Amino acid sequence: MEIREVAVVGLGTMGAGIAEVFARAGLGVVAIEVDSAALKRGVDILDASLTRAVSRGRLTPGEKSAISGRVRPAEGFGEAAAVDLAIEVVPEGLEIKRQIFAELDRVCSPDAILATNTSSLSVTTIASRTLHPGRVAGMHFFNPAPVMRLVEVVSTVLSDNSVPAAVADLARRLGKTPVQVTDRAGFVANALLLPYLNHAVSLLETGYATARDIDLAVTAGIGLPMGPLALLDLIGLDTSLSILEVLSGEFGLQRYTPSPLLRRLTDAGRTGRKSGRGIYRYPADADADNAARNEVVSPPDTVTLIGSGDAVEADLATALASAGINVTRNAAHPSDLVLVGADMGRAVLPAALAAGRPEQTVGVHLPGGLTAGSLAEIVPTSVSSPAAVAAGMALAARLGLTAVRAPDRPGFLVGALLFPHLADAVRMAQDGYASPADIDAAMTLGCGYPQGPFELLDDAGAAAVLAGLESMYDAYGYPSFAPPPLLAEHAAAGIAFASAGRAAGNGMAAGAGSAR
Ligand code: 3HC
Repeated sequence: MEIREVAVVGLGTMGAGIAEVFARAGLGVVAIEVDSAALKRGVDILDASLTRAVSRGRLTPGEKSAISGRVRPAEGFGEAAAVDLAIEVVPEGLEIKRQIFAELDRVCSPDAILATNTSSLSVTTIASRTLHPGRVAGMHFFNPAPVMRLVEVVSTVLSDNSVPAAVADLARRLGKTPVQVTDRAGFVANALLLPYLNHAVSLLETGYATARDIDLAVTAGIGLPMGPLALLDLIGLDTSLSILEVLSGEFGLQRYTPSPLLRRLTDAGRTGRKSGRGIYRYPADADADNAARNEVVSPPDTVTLIGSGDAVEADLATALASAGINVTRNAAHPSDLVLVGADMGRAVLPAALAAGRPEQTVGVHLPGGLTAGSLAEIVPTSVSSPAAVAAGMALAARLGLTAVRAPDRPGFLVGALLFPHLADAVRMAQDGYASPADIDAAMTLGCGYPQGPFELLDDAGAAAVLAGLESMYDAYGYPSFAPPPLLAEHAAAGIAFASAGRAAGNGMAAGAGSAR
């Protein structure tokens, strides 16, 4: 059966984006909302997205009106009688989904496919409460739906075989990459993404780092398209909270327990971009930007550089000298700042104490080496003076680096965010839930990662990630920091995950659907 007409129920950010994707692919779309106000809001979201595409030269005005013309706004379900597929994109909640599916069961033909865009609820539970559970499947898009290429196609034990296959075909017609996943909380991408986002909120909440620094550590330090806190604002804090509640209920691990701050912000209505305020304000708060700029101080004239003497540190000495800063390697010489070339495995404090001027000392860690715009983690110890921290930040800015302040704790800031995320990915592969290739494809296609977690892991080296996790686990004792055995095995054997995972040829990007 060729799917030509679809219904999209719920026109929030995701629903409007999904309606746009269908209409762009030439399908007729019945766009359903509960009342005229909600319908207008949804149509406005769709229109704004198309207008933006026109202003960027991606669509002609004629194409825009053709796309808009394929979308038929409707209050109520009557218009959905003739559709081939209906997808619900309403807030997460079993009762509201049950009501929507009851309406769809009532109006749609028995041949129509009923899909849910749920990001975490059990598709089996949703299907089992309908009249024809065999025709229900998950069709999970990623935000922004018009941009992200992944669609997770969720089948259940009740699904007719033809249904997930038809949904996957449709996803391909939309220009997306379908991946067949089984009905497990969070499927692949959210099960990996959400605990990492939750951890970022905990780091913010506990004062480990500022929001700006957490996000910069990820964009400038790891190369992901958005920092975790900005991404939470995009997804919606309320949506993220619901997903974490489901993950937490299903897996029961502390890493999935929603951070209290996430709950408070959601309770306060700070749900992210859609409400104008989440972690950040939208549009950006100009006063905050100016205040950040005013904090900039002059870099020091003379710096003492101590540390392990590795190649990055030698590059740093050269760069400092080229920037007109006097560099001495002798801690006994007077200087304005003592800089400890830090590495992940060692705290800065012992070196700062040994240098004899701990209040004038900070660490500097360059996770990606020393290139223009790359990240410098300025690492104050518990005795560093505020002046030393400001001088360290100014020095990094003078070198053209993106500076963040990272505590003198295992992993500093980049590692503290990245290592547990990579450990989660390894556990997912270790537990047979998805292959490394599938997981990499999910995160690159669904979340815009330039490299998947396993490619990141291979680049960093399994041994380095293992050492980072071990030091975090030793320091905190949290089970989620315990290195998974599969990681230790790869580190011991010196095997890359990419070669191990891809040798089997089970890449999800090919639509093989091996994540079962
Ligand atoms: N709607 C439509 N198009 C949009 C858009 C939106 N909301 N936001 C951005 N775009 C388009 C732009 O028009 C532009 O297209 P063009 O290249 O054809 O002109 C392109 O995306 C790039 O946009 P920008 O240049 O404005 O911005 P960036 O380069 O910074 O990219 C981004 C923005 C695509 C959002 C990028 O930052 C990204 O990939 N972020 C990661 C998003 C992510 O992780 N999503 C998954 C979240 S998890 C999820 O959704 C699951 C759910 O269940 C919770």
